[in-house]
Amino acid sequence: MPLSGLELIRLVESALAAQAKAYAPYSNFFVGAAILSEDGQVFEGCNVENASYGLAICAERSAVCAAIAGGQRHWRAIAVASQDAVTPCGACRQVLHEFGPALEVILVDGESREVRSRWTAESLLPGAFTLDR
Ligand code: THU
Repeated sequence: MPLSGLELIRLVESALAAQAKAYAPYSNFFVGAAILSEDGQVFEGCNVENASYGLAICAERSAVCAAIAGGQRHWRAIAVASQDAVTPCGACRQVLHEFGPALEVILVDGESREVRSRWTAESLLPGAFTLDR
């Protein structure tokens, strides 16, 4: 079922709130993500960088970890807030796809606070790797 207007607003606001918590002193590129699980909970994540640059954790995967650790594996959508509403990196696309090709991915511009584009996990990563045979 598509998100209602209220659900969309709640998810976008959560992604923006998470963006404000990002720890990104090296890139100054702040990203927040929020996952709406099928039972109506919202799980937030943000990017977390490190002085050892390669250890940076993306906001999307941080939110995925929060949802899984919170016991929710079935999701309706993820909203991601960043400067210019960038599309998720390749690693995050693969990780999001794991939880369903139909997962909706909503990209939000952190400055205007507007939704810029809406995708599915499958449209962001056609032919994703799976072990389904
Ligand atoms: N980043 C994310 O959080 N999500 C993405 O999909 C792309 C990049 C973060 C990682 C790093 O902290 C910063 O943005 C710059 O690459």
